[in-house]
Amino acid sequence: MYKVAVIVGSARPTSSNLKLAKALEKLAAGKLSFQYLRIDNLPFYDEALWDNPPEVVVQLKRDIAAADAVLFVTPEYNRSIPGVLKNALDWPSRPYGEGVWSHKPAAIAGATGGASGTAAAQAHLRSILPMMGLALMGAPEIYFQSRPGAFDENGEITDERVRTNLTIWVDRFSDWIARFATPATEVAARKAS
Ligand SMILES: Cc1cc2nc3c(=O)[nH]c(=O)nc-3n(C[C@H](O)[C@H](O)[C@H](O)COP(=O)(O)O)c2cc1C
Repeated sequence: MYKVAVIVGSARPTSSNLKLAKALEKLAAGKLSFQYLRIDNLPFYDEALWDNPPEVVVQLKRDIAAADAVLFVTPEYNRSIPGVLKNALDWPSRPYGEGVWSHKPAAIAGATGGASGTAAAQAHLRSILPMMGLALMGAPEIYFQSRPGAFDENGEITDERVRTNLTIWVDRFSDWIARFATPATEVAARKAS
């Protein structure tokens, strides 16, 4: 089973993006195991902090390095990604030459109450991730409109058609990871060279 590091771009406990991630986790049961990475406790990026890097930064890099893939689930803030998410992208990309994003299979999803389903935020994220070397799945996409009643009391997505599409998405992401996941032996060889 592939290990997926999940990064949700919203810190609030009632986040619709966290709910979407949890719904995807249920649909992926038996195929993917999700590990939720915390990003709201990271300091703002500061190059000088690498002299004595904060443990939360070191741990984030360790968790990403240990994952087979990464899933970003992002809200849209003023037509882009939230600052907390951008900060969490920048830390693991450094120090130069020691980033952990490179070659990592990845996918994007997003939820908002708005009809656009975070399309603008996702477009920005799509311009960032490949530049950092992630192997980003282009399609299918998830633009989730989090209307009242979109999730039931168990966190299940109520719209059956959407649930079916998300099940297909999970299968495609699993296939994507199988195609691009770097075997542990290769990672070790890269580190040694
Ligand atoms: C500062 C700010 C800016 C926002 N800008 C947008 C936006 O551009 N497009 C949009 O669809 N929703 C926007 N929203 C609404 C958020 O998408 C909505 O609050 C969403 O539920 C937040 O995600 P969460 O439920 O995971 O916390 C904005 C919210 C905030 C707080």
